[in-house]
Amino acid sequence: MYKTHTCGELRREHVGQVVKLAGWVHRRRDHGGVTFLDLRDRFGLVQVVADPTTSPAAHQALEVVRVEWVVQIEGTVRVRPAGAENPNLPTGEIEVEIHQVKILNQAKTPPFAINKDEDTDENTRLKYRYLDLRRDHMRHNLELRHRVVKFIRDYLSAHGFIEVETPILFKTTPEGARDYLVPSRVHPGEFYALPQSPQQLKQLLMVAGIERYFQIARCFRDEDTRGDRQPEFTQLDLEMSFVEREDVMRLAEDLFTRMVAEVAPHKHLLASPWPRLTYQEAMRRFGKDNPDLRYGMELQDITDLAPQTGFKVFQDTVARGGHVRGLNARGLADYTRKQIDELTEYVKGFGAKGLAYLAITKEGEHRSTFSKFLPEEVLNELLKRMGAEPGDLLLFVADQPAIVFESLGRLRVLLAERLELADPNTLAFCWVVDFPFVNWSQEDQRWDPSHHLFTSPMPEDVHLLETDPGKARGQQYDLVLNNYEVGGGSIRIHDRQLQELVFKLIGLDPEVARERFGHMLEAFEYGTPPHGGIAPGIDRICMILADEPNIREVIAFPKNQAARDVMAGAPSPTEPKQLKELHLKVDL
Ligand code: AMO
Ligand code: AMP
Repeated sequence: MYKTHTCGELRREHVGQVVKLAGWVHRRRDHGGVTFLDLRDRFGLVQVVADPTTSPAAHQALEVVRVEWVVQIEGTVRVRPAGAENPNLPTGEIEVEIHQVKILNQAKTPPFAINKDEDTDENTRLKYRYLDLRRDHMRHNLELRHRVVKFIRDYLSAHGFIEVETPILFKTTPEGARDYLVPSRVHPGEFYALPQSPQQLKQLLMVAGIERYFQIARCFRDEDTRGDRQPEFTQLDLEMSFVEREDVMRLAEDLFTRMVAEVAPHKHLLASPWPRLTYQEAMRRFGKDNPDLRYGMELQDITDLAPQTGFKVFQDTVARGGHVRGLNARGLADYTRKQIDELTEYVKGFGAKGLAYLAITKEGEHRSTFSKFLPEEVLNELLKRMGAEPGDLLLFVADQPAIVFESLGRLRVLLAERLELADPNTLAFCWVVDFPFVNWSQEDQRWDPSHHLFTSPMPEDVHLLETDPGKARGQQYDLVLNNYEVGGGSIRIHDRQLQELVFKLIGLDPEVARERFGHMLEAFEYGTPPHGGIAPGIDRICMILADEPNIREVIAFPKNQAARDVMAGAPSPTEPKQLKELHLKVDL
């Protein structure tokens, strides 16, 4: 037996017992000839002591031992001398007096400290991820993630769901990203695609009569990596038969409300039941469809006032059908020209042509891009609408609606970060519903589904698909938490004719549709129950619960920002022989 106890479990009641422990040397101190080690395993830390007068052999053996060596010790638990207790450590009342030491493995000096949190270059952390994961903080994240997934599995199992695994080697699954392809050796020139989500398979499981399915599912999307995006990530994928939108939303809301109470009791919900916003309302108030509800600073519309402002930028934009909207950055009236220029550059990154401002100093004076032209009654109306008070800075963008929303929506988030408006321990879950069914793609000159092409339109809007598709709403619901979209789902089309109509609407050639999705269309002809589901992103939810700035911190072995695994060195070139077997030629 390597251990009789873990390093974290010894307490006063173990005093006098002879124990065996095994783990890593976390810290080493030598005091007046006596050697003190903090011995660490996954379950905690304990101080062990080798005294040359009572156990000279053990003391001698420890001479060479350094941090991160793996050792086994045998010793007696004793109370620490008065004054030497450590109230910050669960085992801080006791220590173990060593009789015997066995060195199980030596360790090179680690490239970064494991026994304290210090800033380390992320690529170094990722290259030595196995060492990074030894750190308290990372272990805590992995444990949290485990509790999240376990809660989900228990909850859904208790609600009649079964977990079904679906293939990784599959066929293109349209979620709007590029596919990862896997060449087939046995079928020259043919490829599997890794699933962007198990979307089709979970719908086919509904056709199969499973009724309540879930899976902790790995998904693969070849898109630009960002803080909240990885090439492979994990969804709680679920699907239910004989349900309406409300049923799926109610289940997800109950699941996550209970999960948070259990795994992150120090967090509290902003509101319960969760607020619901229509897509239109989310855009109008927050400029984005994943709004952070933890603070105000909502967007205000002043388009109607623009013609009377005497400011040409506003007037011309509105004359061309654009909007003027703004937000009130409270207390920032003394922002300098340079600081405002910086904000201007920021919104330009999202297509805005500029950022007009009106600062109301504490003394009530105005500093502004445009107020000199403003008639008094227009100014007063504008100040009233913006809720402006002395000390406030009002910021405006005039442009086409999409640009106004995006730039002000992002600016709101940036300013809230600077002003620390969001309480990190508040969880603002909300639902966004009534999305447009399709969006017009200027680039491709066609309608694109706003969710995916299996999403059902609202029943009362089906007739619009052939007359005014841009007005139709989809039966989609997005799950939003703080500043992130953490889940998306919908009620699906379960009727072959409607599905074909949607393919036609989005300009999918019938031949291509049959080749790609013929199996779905065919399945729909064999008794398909009405069904719908949702797929919350596990990585994003864990990131928020763990207060981490990106999802890499809650994934054991993530890719870096350039989509590389820097530990194993993937992707990497392959042997010519392997390419040949796969019937591939590399053309760089
Ligand atoms: P959707 O594409 O909206 O829906 O994805 C659902 C959720 O998955 C997470 N997510 C990601 N997380 C990390 N990295 C990524 N690259 C990434 N992409 C998505 C997000 C997102 O909200 N099949 C549908 C679901 C359904 O209709 O039931 C789907 O995949 O949290
Ligand atoms: P300009 O006329 O381009 O020199 O801009 C004068 C001021 O108006 C500058 O402070 C710009 O940032 C601002 N501005 C220009 N275009 C816009 C716009 N579309 N929306 C808001 N402010 C703008």
